[in-house]
Amino acid sequence: MATSDQIMALIKSHLKDDDDRFLAVAIQVAAHAARQGHGRVAEEIRVLVDKAEADRKRAARPVPITTPRGELAALLSVSYPETRLSDMVLTEAARIRFDRLLREQRGRQKLLAHGLEPRRKLLLVGPPGSGKTMTASALAGELQVPLYTLLLHGLITKFMGETAAKLRLVFDALADSRGVYLFDEFDAIGGQRAATNDVGEIRRVLNSFLQFLEQDASSSLIIAATNHPEALDRALFRRFDDVIEYDAPVDALALQIMRNTLATFDTAEVDWDLAVSAAGGLSNADITRACELAAKEAVLDDTLTVSTSALVGALEERRHAHTD
Ligand SMILES: Nc1ncnc2c1ncn2[C@@H]1O[C@H](COP(=O)(O)OP(=O)(O)OP(=O)(O)O)[C@@H](O)[C@H]1O
Ligand SMILES: [Mg+2]
Repeated sequence: MATSDQIMALIKSHLKDDDDRFLAVAIQVAAHAARQGHGRVAEEIRVLVDKAEADRKRAARPVPITTPRGELAALLSVSYPETRLSDMVLTEAARIRFDRLLREQRGRQKLLAHGLEPRRKLLLVGPPGSGKTMTASALAGELQVPLYTLLLHGLITKFMGETAAKLRLVFDALADSRGVYLFDEFDAIGGQRAATNDVGEIRRVLNSFLQFLEQDASSSLIIAATNHPEALDRALFRRFDDVIEYDAPVDALALQIMRNTLATFDTAEVDWDLAVSAAGGLSNADITRACELAAKEAVLDDTLTVSTSALVGALEERRHAHTD
């Protein structure tokens, strides 16, 4: 049955009110029981954990407010993220800025009563897989508001002449239902040098976006994300309350991502220095995926133990996926 370490971990996580950790350890106890041939007990524990997790999800979800309808449905997709900022590995500078934004948002009634605007317009700049989309989810999860993602292809390619009108629909929605509105791949509208044949149209769209952005007095968060800051019109940067830049993670952050992702596994044998150097230059997303690959192996071979070679192998596989 459960080892004494597992029992200690259960007690500690219960006392700290850390449900995530408690359930993770319970799963380890189930795996341990299964290995010792107590299959029925293992199954009972898993059923309990599944039920607890489903209950928590249901309790945490906000009441769905608005699902985009009609024309808006082709422009916005809605979700209710449960991601938290604490799920993310961030530089100190970025964390300070997001904490400040959340603090202002949570105290927005107080600020508004004094004629002060809480910050709510962010531009996120960084390479693929650096956590821009995850940031939008985490801010929505923290504030318990829906995340609306703008489907840019619906906005631009399909209805070239009508894009400004559609943009107005989006900004109307933004004023109607408070939420986090993510303008992903923002360079598609924010570009200085768009494809030559539609420069005029893109410019018109960009200008109306700037106007809407300036006039918008809603309580929603507007988050624009891009991989190509060099393609953005400098005029845009001034219209945001904050510009946050992401990069491939430095060693300490890469290590933290690996430790977080593998937190519920036995990693006592892992040579972290080797793992960190194998992760060098990979994005947060690639490092996460590699850890998940190693974790799946550990689950499937019933050891729940991750070795250096499995982890380094998975990291190298991610690297080759990009250079092949
Ligand atoms: N800072 C981070 N902390 C923890 N996990 C991260 C972080 N950044 C990325 N990840 C992991 O990588 C996945 C992909 O990241 P995300 O989609 O946010 O990247 P992105 O910057 O939006 O990339 P793209 O430019 O390709 O859209 C996340 O779902 C998460 O699992
Ligand atoms: Mg993204």
